[in-house]
Amino acid sequence: MGNGEKALEKLFRRGKDFLGVEYPILGGAMSWISEAGLVSAISNEGGFGVLAGGNMPVELLIEEIKKTFDLTDKPFGVNLITITPNFRKHLEYILKEEFPFIIFAGGLPPRDAITRVKQTSCKLICFAPNLNISKKLVKMGVDALIIEGHEAGGHIGPVSTSVLAEEILPAVKEVPIFVAGGIGSGISMVHYLLMGASGVQLGTRFAVAEESPAHPNFKEALIKASSKDAVPTAQFDPRVPVIPVRAIVNEGTRDFVTLQLGLVAQLEREAMTAKEAAEKLEEFWIGGLRKAAIEGDVERGSIMAGQSVGMVNRVMPVKEIIEELVEQGTKELERIIELVAEE
Ligand SMILES: Cc1cc2nc3c(=O)[nH]c(=O)nc-3n(C[C@H](O)[C@H](O)[C@H](O)COP(=O)(O)O)c2cc1C
Repeated sequence: MGNGEKALEKLFRRGKDFLGVEYPILGGAMSWISEAGLVSAISNEGGFGVLAGGNMPVELLIEEIKKTFDLTDKPFGVNLITITPNFRKHLEYILKEEFPFIIFAGGLPPRDAITRVKQTSCKLICFAPNLNISKKLVKMGVDALIIEGHEAGGHIGPVSTSVLAEEILPAVKEVPIFVAGGIGSGISMVHYLLMGASGVQLGTRFAVAEESPAHPNFKEALIKASSKDAVPTAQFDPRVPVIPVRAIVNEGTRDFVTLQLGLVAQLEREAMTAKEAAEKLEEFWIGGLRKAAIEGDVERGSIMAGQSVGMVNRVMPVKEIIEELVEQGTKELERIIELVAEE
């Protein structure tokens, strides 16, 4: 084993032991895309696949979990979005089954939901948007954290991955932390590991994997796009708050502006409540992603992608994506070892 390989093995160790995998590389949950096929492929190749619970009917989620168990005997996670109407039903099923890994996404998770998970043998991973909340989540008993920066695809927070990493990684040592957002190669992966991360989570690159069920038009749009094309949505009126979504600009992005302005006008006329307006916006994104990723309508659908889309050049099997990340990481570590070695 070379020096780079040994160093990577060492940097991977905590995440590897926590997840029970060969490589602590998570395939981040992507609604409609992270289903049994892609998730099992990532886990079978030594990474950690994560099923997207989204807002799917609970029966469908149960079916998807069963299918994934049929396709892999390796560990994988289930991502539940705490702000969706089906969250409680999803949680009840997962807790009853004592499913090994749950990931809570979608804002600060309800305290009682964390307590419920902690009463079972499930390991709980939560997204942390800043240092204060990271510390709070650790105190509440969360087993690991994901910090996801502004560069990521899909719904995003305001702070960049590099700043979150710089703020949180040196200050929170109690639990493993996985870094997400803007990771397109093994080079940035290694630098986050050196900063104290236990592993990384990638979405955009896996969306274009051979095993991803995304429509060929969706994959093609990502391959053609460069980093600057993946842009977050803007908010026009604080009464209609928008959780920014990073996606490739198209007619759908422009439809979203029209929808938002229409909702603001309805609020002015008191023809709608702010809650109803917020629900309409969320429906737009969930439906929009399906339209682009599954139906292949890349004109009007939502082509969610992170800035790492610039590093997506072709459709690759999951095995090659993971091998490439590991190889690039190993080379980067060899370069660093040589760089700092005594003359
Ligand atoms: C098309 C798409 C859909 C996504 N859907 C979800 C989701 O349903 N739940 C979630 O927690 N994260 C979602 N994400 C975020 C990913 O899980 C992952 O954290 C993110 O893509 C990492 O950044 P990257 O795209 O730069 O690799 C989505 C990302 C993309 C690109």
